[in-house]
Amino acid sequence: MASSVRSAKNNGIAAEKKERRPMTVPRFIEAKSLGQRLTMLTAYDYTMARLLDDADVDAILVGDSLGMVMQGEPNPLRVTMDEMIYHTRLVAKAVRHCLLIADMPFMSYQVSPQQALENAGRLVKEGGAHAVKLEGGQRSVGAIEAIVSADIPVMGHVGLMPQSVHRLGGFRVQRDGERIVSDAQAIEKAGAFAIVVECVPADLAQQIRESVKIPTIGIGAGLGCDGQILVSHDMLGLFNDLRPRFVKQYGAIGEAISEAVNRYCDEVRTGGFPGPEHTFRG
Ligand code: KIV
Repeated sequence: MASSVRSAKNNGIAAEKKERRPMTVPRFIEAKSLGQRLTMLTAYDYTMARLLDDADVDAILVGDSLGMVMQGEPNPLRVTMDEMIYHTRLVAKAVRHCLLIADMPFMSYQVSPQQALENAGRLVKEGGAHAVKLEGGQRSVGAIEAIVSADIPVMGHVGLMPQSVHRLGGFRVQRDGERIVSDAQAIEKAGAFAIVVECVPADLAQQIRESVKIPTIGIGAGLGCDGQILVSHDMLGLFNDLRPRFVKQYGAIGEAISEAVNRYCDEVRTGGFPGPEHTFRG
């Protein structure tokens, strides 16, 4: 009985999944006016992207946080265009429902609007991204205008901008409200479809949300945003080198991996693995 109830429920979920409409840029924008909070997480490879896409996430970001999470760097500055394209391609293979956004790495859009357009085009054409994300307010207006002129949707990023880590003196909460609000408005005017707001006080995030029509996606910015994003490896407890205060851990996957690996090593050393069920006979 219990199992038939479970399988009916599972069938329901499967049916729901089949009907799940892919997230698109227009639907993403519309969510704000419908009061639907948006969910975003990062992925850098096929396996993680499959898990996220099969779950109920609205959008996946191939973030340049891969510099820290995948490459063990202290910041994202050394991530290259070719690396972003490579990881975006892996994620794109898994994506069926989510909106797929790829980060533009440091120095791939700052030189000129032409450079920004060419590199955004590569992320779409070679990587399979649906949209790109870049950092900066006023100073990124030319880049955003150039990219959207080719119908490539752009997500902005204000507040703490990790590519500015040296100017900012570290990954710190940003409190210059007037400048950040006008940066958000400049990005919207330039044609961005959404904005990541990173590490600002909650009341400032709320003010930003009210000052633009496009969705704001918070990280370390409290509840007053139209959606939230976290680095998957942080929220799953898979990457523990850095523990920002704004991260909530929804899993302890790192611990689960250590436990499984230690159990495997014990069984290999004591002859418990492979067992008869893992062994071919002649
Ligand atoms: O690179 C990244 O993962 C990001 C998000 C955390 C916003 O920019």
